Amino acid sequence: MRNIVMSISLFLLAGTFVLQAQTKIPEVEEILKKMTLEEKIGQLNLVTPGGGVATGSVVSEGVETKIKEGNVGGVFGVSSPEKVRQAQELAVKESRLGIPLLIGSDVIHGYKTTFPIPLGLSSSWDMDLIKETAQIAAKEATADGINWNFSPMVDIARDPRWGRIAEGAGEDPYLGSQVARAMVEGYQGNDFTKPATMLATVKHLALYGASESGRDYNSVDMSKLKMFNEYLPPYKAAVDAGVASAMTSFNDIHGVPASGNKWLLTDLLRERWGFEGFVVSDYTSVNEMIAHGLGDLQDVSALAINAGLDMDMVGEGFLTTLKKSVDEGKVSEEQITRAARRILEAKHKLGLLDDPYLYSDDSRPQKDILSEENKAVARKAARRSFVLLKKHENTLPLAKDAKIALVGALGNNKNNMLGTWAPTGNPQLSTPILEGMKNVAPNAKITYAKGANISNDTAFAKKINVFGPRIEISDESPEELLKEAMETTRDADVIVAVVGEASEMSGESANRTNLSIPDSQKKMIRELVKTGKPVVLVLMSGRPLVISEEMDLPVSILQVWHPGIEAGNAVADVLFGDYNPSGKLTATWPRNVGQIPIYYRMKTTGRPSASPDEFQKFKSNYLDVGNSPLLPFGYGLSYTEFEYGETTLSADSMNENGSITVTTTISNTGDYDGEEVVQLYIHDKVRSITPPMKELKAFKKIMLKKGESKEVTFQLTAEELKFYNADLEYVLEPGEFEVFVAGSSDHEFTNTFSVTE
Ligand code: BGC
Repeated sequence: MRNIVMSISLFLLAGTFVLQAQTKIPEVEEILKKMTLEEKIGQLNLVTPGGGVATGSVVSEGVETKIKEGNVGGVFGVSSPEKVRQAQELAVKESRLGIPLLIGSDVIHGYKTTFPIPLGLSSSWDMDLIKETAQIAAKEATADGINWNFSPMVDIARDPRWGRIAEGAGEDPYLGSQVARAMVEGYQGNDFTKPATMLATVKHLALYGASESGRDYNSVDMSKLKMFNEYLPPYKAAVDAGVASAMTSFNDIHGVPASGNKWLLTDLLRERWGFEGFVVSDYTSVNEMIAHGLGDLQDVSALAINAGLDMDMVGEGFLTTLKKSVDEGKVSEEQITRAARRILEAKHKLGLLDDPYLYSDDSRPQKDILSEENKAVARKAARRSFVLLKKHENTLPLAKDAKIALVGALGNNKNNMLGTWAPTGNPQLSTPILEGMKNVAPNAKITYAKGANISNDTAFAKKINVFGPRIEISDESPEELLKEAMETTRDADVIVAVVGEASEMSGESANRTNLSIPDSQKKMIRELVKTGKPVVLVLMSGRPLVISEEMDLPVSILQVWHPGIEAGNAVADVLFGDYNPSGKLTATWPRNVGQIPIYYRMKTTGRPSASPDEFQKFKSNYLDVGNSPLLPFGYGLSYTEFEYGETTLSADSMNENGSITVTTTISNTGDYDGEEVVQLYIHDKVRSITPPMKELKAFKKIMLKKGESKEVTFQLTAEELKFYNADLEYVLEPGEFEVFVAGSSDHEFTNTFSVTE
């Protein structure tokens, strides 16, 4: 009976949903009635005059004329209230129907106030903070005329060779979903017509982070089971949070690229997930289906619109071929009307149909952009994103009056502080590490020397320097550089070496097969260690690196990603102990490149080794390296120490509608106040499909004063133990589960419970 009642109410709910989805907006319908087929197709065209980062070889031509002719629905790469007003005037005053434009931009980790790269932000495990950074990004971007953001990128990434791992929240579907929701809520708020909110775009739908061999734009071939359980949850979380648009990815899925994939764009996104916004292609990804081998421009454009793609970014296949396809009966006019309706609905949602100049308020940039409050959040976000990877003796934190030798090309540099995909930021406004250290510790005696080029390879540097001088190779020889660094160490109490990747060594089209710190810097590190003085490595990168050798050296290591506009101040806050590091890794760090892909949610296989690093013949392992990573997901140290007490459960079983309270006491037993990310993992012991060895199900970030203990409780519901079975139904299978609570994914299970029918 209960099931019947549930099914009826679900049916009614579904009915309401369909009715709601079909509710048409009278204002939009009025416009549609007046539109010619060509004008509808015009709304599906997204152009860029090339003002932002043009990531393809194509930039739109004749943008002004096209806007006047009603051949443009949206523009990106245009900013400032004045320029946006001019663009809107062209559309509103000079096109026949006067429909305003969507104004898009890639505001990935802050607009002008640049926050740490997203992989860094996710390492804070602080959802309120992440939401706040998105709110500030929206405030600044909308002040500059932008109403539509191409963010968040929520692609699960388990291959650090892929440069775009920098742009997402790492490897885990649960954490990734929390971050997706926080960002959508931050950008969009709860009222689009408020001037400081904008449309968000969940990207890149879908599976882009699983590009084969970590090579950008490469193919993806994945089982639906893996998609549903591991890769799709963050996109779905964004949809559930009400994201206004979705961007397709470049890769193929089951043989059809995302931009032409009907299963993905219609069956899954619209019908299964109930997405009501619009779908935009990635940069020329419709045209790229020609190179994928699916036909000519007319074929691939028809494929895309019929699959459910609404807007074509830059490639203009829609603009130039859809009319012909309608005439030839390959595309229905209804399909085009549907897509145009979605674009108009987005404009309506933003309030643009009532006031096209809503985002052209000249008084806003001055007060909303780069304010002291915004920069204070950037500093807070940066220091909360850092992960202490290794503590050696008591080198850290540094005394504020210490004699410090600061070395490394990244130690006194502005060009690399913002990180990848910060096209709206200005690197020259960022604080270098040296300056930040002087700000925070004016009494310290700091001497700086470059010590080594980021890389000595000029051909490599050329590839990295496309957006500006990220790798600058000195006229001085590597030997001279090193000699100068060694001289600065002579009188120093401690050496701080800022090493790692230049910002454009990660990001789009920035994949690497060698994930080590470049040789020039590795060599410098070895020499510095030989001095016998305490050494701190401040490590910058847009991805997990292979640092097995450095972990074995007697050094402390602080991972700071690319920290954003407040880089120097934030690094100094942590080095001098004004902030105790609290970040935890959100992607596994491998021992060597051969271990990739490596992630904590792996399965056991039928032949697990007795222990991860013990070689056993005919078991699933390697001859030359263990199975454990160098640094696991969830890992990160603090200046203080945390001790976890026994974990207890409120009951040893629950039914399908039940929950269990999991309790652990955490104590700060070290010498500093500090924050800890308390993580809860489960293992489903028997399932109809092979379960992962561990799954993160909850976490809390808590503050503990020195000597303090706190009880942390998690309410674990049966609902949270669901997964997609072989028929892709989201189910709970009763049975035995294991659980542990710890400060990292690398822990044994401590308790068991069961779920009964
Ligand atoms: C990227 C997208 C980005 C777009 C527009 C593409 O190359 O893949 O993430 O939003 O360019 O700049």
